[in-house]
Amino acid sequence: MDTMAIIMAAGEGRRMLSDKPKVLHEACGRPIIDWVIDAVSPCITACPVVVVGNGAQQVRAHLGTGVQYAFQDKQMGTGHAAMTAAPHLEGRKGYVLVVAGDVPLLKADSLAALCGLAKEGGYAATMLTALMEDPSGYGRVVRSEGGSVAAVVEHRDADAQVMCIKEVNASVYCFEIEAFLRALKSLKNDNDQSEYYLTDCIAILVKEGRKVGALVASDARECMGVNDRAQLAEAVKVLQERIIRRHQLAGVTFIDPQNTCVGCGVSIGRDTVVYPGNVLEGETRIGENCTIYPGSRIKNSVVGNGATIESSVVCGSVVGDGANVGPFAHLRPGTDVGESCRIGNFVEVKKSRIGRASKVSHLTYVGDGIIGEGCNIGCGVVFVNYDGSQKHTTVVEDGAFVGCNANLISPVTVGKNSYIAAGSTITEDVPEDALAVARGRQINKEGWSAKRRMEKRK
Ligand code: UD1
Ligand code: CA
Repeated sequence: MDTMAIIMAAGEGRRMLSDKPKVLHEACGRPIIDWVIDAVSPCITACPVVVVGNGAQQVRAHLGTGVQYAFQDKQMGTGHAAMTAAPHLEGRKGYVLVVAGDVPLLKADSLAALCGLAKEGGYAATMLTALMEDPSGYGRVVRSEGGSVAAVVEHRDADAQVMCIKEVNASVYCFEIEAFLRALKSLKNDNDQSEYYLTDCIAILVKEGRKVGALVASDARECMGVNDRAQLAEAVKVLQERIIRRHQLAGVTFIDPQNTCVGCGVSIGRDTVVYPGNVLEGETRIGENCTIYPGSRIKNSVVGNGATIESSVVCGSVVGDGANVGPFAHLRPGTDVGESCRIGNFVEVKKSRIGRASKVSHLTYVGDGIIGEGCNIGCGVVFVNYDGSQKHTTVVEDGAFVGCNANLISPVTVGKNSYIAAGSTITEDVPEDALAVARGRQINKEGWSAKRRMEKRK
């Protein structure tokens, strides 16, 4: 016996006013539809069928070969979307979960319960419902006097009495496959929008004398559909809360969770403290005992244990144990900052390796550099890595001391334990243990200023 899934994702998402298909809008770092597929996946025995139409190419490009596709040429309603996917169910016995692609808060547990109820209760269909304070926009669940589900009436087709019903349809169903395929054949589009409503399957099955059950979600927010950007923001808020809760329960402190963004692909070690105004995203791993002070964006990066990052942008980089970054540093992709390093104020590092305990404390650009251990890069140093057509590498060996405001014209190597005088423009390799001075000599013209004053007075 199979448990299949159909995910409806062909709609235009008109209310998003977007060039991007609605289901590809991101919530906490991943498209809405990924959240839905994740919730569905544990329950099913065959790969899900995704109904695509609007923006089909983009949706396919995103989902790839992990799912099956049904193509809905014209969007004639959710019932029509289900009909499009029906050929994938032919010859299958068992159940099918039919889920809208725009319900990212849906939980796998609820789907399992929905399937369980259908199978054990001998229902032709079960549906997930929710009691909403403000049910507007949703289809209302009409129940018979005995309390069993009788029909779903869309908001726009509802009369005053139905309008008052607070139980809504989540657009999440579990159908017995044979009954479902039969009901689809009876669907008509004689409604306000001339659409085939999937919801009408409920009344059709009830009329056939089949049992239809409903599972009322314990948390109504789980059933929220995302139709516009305001609802998207609400959904993000709930997902964010869930993600942060997971980290909190694993020993991470958030000073102000409501004002912290943590994507779903982020891991954080225990005893790390995250201040407000931080955005942690992509595939990011933050170690234990770190402090992430306000205003940082950390994306696709690895941060070691005991590191401190403040008001900085860290992308595609590695920050070693006990390192100190910021405030106002920018680590660009391909950067590897070693253990116990210090990257200070207004320092930009691009595609460079910085060895253990080296310091780049102020106002410096390090591009395509390989810096050894225990180096000191003074204030305002520029790694001149670009000659207008090509990028070159600068090597600074262990223990070297580069004075303030030096330019290292690459390709160039600064030898081990050497010194570079402040203000030097280095164009040639500096040998180990040497001092390089590459600047004009100072001339003091005695009495020059006094003489000038006298001339002005005349
Ligand atoms: C639908 C339900 C409503 C329920 C609500 C829950 C119907 C008729 N109404 O309304 O009872 O309360 O969801 O959120 O089912 N889609 C297609 N092809 C189409 C039309 C829609 O694939 O031709 C897809 C959309 O991409 C979307 C999903 O189906 O992911 C739901 O469609 P939407 O237009 O958002 O339905 P609602 O008006 O929200
Ligand atoms: Ca919807």
